[in-house]
This record gives sequence, structure tokens and C-alpha cells, in this order.
Amino acid sequence: MAILLDGFSLAQKVRSELKDKIASLNSTPSLAVILVGDDPASQVYVGGKEKAAAEVGINSIVKHLSKNISEGELLNEIKLLNEAQSVDGILVQLPLPDGIDVHKIISAIDPKKDVDGFHPINAGLLSIGKPSLIPCTPKGIMRLLSEYSLEISGKNAVVIGRSNIVGKPISQLLLAANATVTVCHSKTANLSQAAKNADILIAAIGRPRYVKAEFIKEGAVVVDVGMNRLEGKLCGDVDFESVSPLASAITPVPKGVGPMTIAMLLENTCEAHVSRKTIWS
Ligand SMILES: NC(=O)c1ccc[n+]([C@@H]2O[C@H](COP(=O)([O-])OP(=O)(O)OC[C@H]3O[C@@H](n4cnc5c(N)ncnc54)[C@H](OP(=O)(O)O)[C@@H]3O)[C@@H](O)[C@H]2O)c1
Repeated sequence: MAILLDGFSLAQKVRSELKDKIASLNSTPSLAVILVGDDPASQVYVGGKEKAAAEVGINSIVKHLSKNISEGELLNEIKLLNEAQSVDGILVQLPLPDGIDVHKIISAIDPKKDVDGFHPINAGLLSIGKPSLIPCTPKGIMRLLSEYSLEISGKNAVVIGRSNIVGKPISQLLLAANATVTVCHSKTANLSQAAKNADILIAAIGRPRYVKAEFIKEGAVVVDVGMNRLEGKLCGDVDFESVSPLASAITPVPKGVGPMTIAMLLENTCEAHVSRKTIWS
């Protein structure tokens, strides 16, 4: 039976270490979260981030803006937060309402405060192997693999999904850790065959229980990034029941990658606070 990669416990450990670290600083990190509109899932995510920030001693401010805000007004809100000396991290909760150019909004965030790591400068630094603020979900996955001492160097890693927030950055991080990386997507021919080559399989697809036993090489490490609702219940992109008997290690959903994402957001905020004035000046 596969080892369960317990992101929930590791996230608690990271948060407790961060709490101690923040308590030892003589200043308080602060995070500004911009929430546009009334999407219920986004409200839950933002509430979770606010609570987690408070628990470790990070000041958080949530700017809840109307779904009718114009792109120009939103850009102005970001400009104010960029200029605010007291703000270390800025996060814009996605998705944004139709009519707002996400790329333009993310690009307007000061890269030093871009705690999601989505700004083109941070994406570029990651791709040339000089990471600064690393996207939280991929960073959390790497921390989880490291915590369980799972070998990456020389392994075949297959990433299903090529989004800017998960698929591409986790591919860069695995490559930097000397894996041989294959990135698959919706146009990949013979997906299950490509996946079956994986010693490490990352599923970031957004399709409930899509990855089945026939995708898995015996002994593979399987990381399920998916967060989908099926019949009212949260489930991943991996069919845990059929895959876990074949895998050597696997993340559960919930309590796998999700909690690590929030822990890494807190860590990035703390890093931005500590390094903002040194690395970038
Ligand atoms: N646990 C967490 O903290 C966390 C964080 C972020 C995201 N997520 C979850 O992770 C999942 C992926 O998120 P995302 O933002 O990366 O999603 P996304 O932007 O929708 O990207 C999905 C990717 O999967 C590919 N794909 C879709 N259907 C496919 C298929 N049938 N076969 C092969 N590839 C397919 C798409 O290919 P194309 O590029 O060809 O369209 C795309 O590259 C979602 O369930 C999301 O909720 C979880």
C-alpha cells in the first residue's frame, strides 16, 4: 500500500515554524488580498487565507471589491498597495470577472510583493533557475516530496496540465531538481501511455478522478493537485481507489496539496517581508 503524503500535517509543521520565526522578528509581515465579486468558492478561499495568516502572526487586509469594478479602478487599487510601505505581499484572488484582463492585473503587482509568484518577472526568474517568489502550489509539492525524502534527480516526472499557476512552474521546479520532465495537456496523444512512464506523476487537470490505474507505473509517486466537486464532495484528479494500490506514495484529497498551498503563501509573505528591502534594492 502506498505511503500517504500528508500535506495537512506538514503544513501544520511549516505554519508552526513560521509562527516562531515571525514572533522572533521585530516587525510584522503583512498580506493584502484583493477579492473581486461574490464568487462563493473565492470567498471561502480568501477566508481560509485570512485565518491562516492571523494564526502565524501575519497582518492581513482583505479588499473586497465590487464585481462591477473596472479594470482601471482595479489597477489603481494595486498601485496603492504597491506603494504602501506597510504591505509586503499582494494577492489577487482568481478568477476575476469577465472583462478584466488577468495578465494585465498580475503584471501590475510589484514583483517584490507578488506572493503568488505569478508575475512575469517571477515566472521568468523561475524558468532561468533563479527563483525568487515561487508559486505556492508547486512550491508546496516540492516541499512535500522533500519531506518524505523522495528522490527526484534522474527520475522521469510527468506533469499532466500546463497552466501558468501549476503545470508550468512545477515542471520547472522538477527540471531544476534534475528530473526528466514530460508535460502533457489536452492535446497529448496517448496520455495514459505517457503517464505510465512516470516515476513521479503530477496530476493538475481539473477533471475529477481522471487518472486511473492504467495511467500508473507500479511504484510511482503520485501527486494529485486537483480540487473538484463531485456529487457535493471534494475530490482530486486521481482516482485514489484504483491508483493507490499501485503507487509507492500518493497525496490524498483533501489534506494533500491544498494545505501546503496555504502554508507556502504564508512562507512567501514572510520571505517578501524579510527580503524586500535587501535582495531587490
Ligand atoms: N490544491 C491546490 O492548492 C490547488 C491549487 C491550484 C489548482 N488546483 C486544482 O488543480 C487543478 C488544475 O488547476 P489549474 O489551475 O492548473 O487548471 P487549468 O488552468 O484549467 O489547467 C488544466 C490543465 O489540464 C489540461 N487538461 C484538461 N483536460 C485534460 C485532459 N483530458 N487530458 C490532458 N490534459 C488535460 C489542460 O490542457 P490545455 O492546456 O491543453 O487546455 C490544462 O493545461 C484544478 O482542479 C484546480 O482546482 C488546486
